[in-house]
Amino acid sequence: MKPGKDPAAAAAPGRTVLCRLADVADGGSNGFAVHWRGELLRFMILRRNDHVFVYANRCPHKGLPLDFTPGRFLDHAKTHILCTNHGAVFRIEDGFCVSGPCAGKSLRRPATEVRNGTVYLVD
Ligand code: FES
Repeated sequence: MKPGKDPAAAAAPGRTVLCRLADVADGGSNGFAVHWRGELLRFMILRRNDHVFVYANRCPHKGLPLDFTPGRFLDHAKTHILCTNHGAVFRIEDGFCVSGPCAGKSLRRPATEVRNGTVYLVD
């Protein structure tokens, strides 16, 4: 996990850099910690072509980070997000938990924007 860095983004009002799009392999995932709204927060990002899905890296079950191996959030088939703590499984497209101890709950999803190859959190 590494903090996002982009000096140019500091000037963008209401935007905080999460990462570069190139920091996430197509079809893969990665994790980042950034200062946002006065706190150091962890996020996961999953990429499908130029589309990204960003969620707080905090499981609705126990509030723990989902990735035992930093940046690895997907199951073996790479079709769902997997919490490695107790096996909760979430849909990539909306963060809804389809099985496990927090079934029916969802990952928190911040507003995001991708511009010029940079992924931003939007206030
Ligand atoms: S902390 Fe994620 S399933 Fe328990």
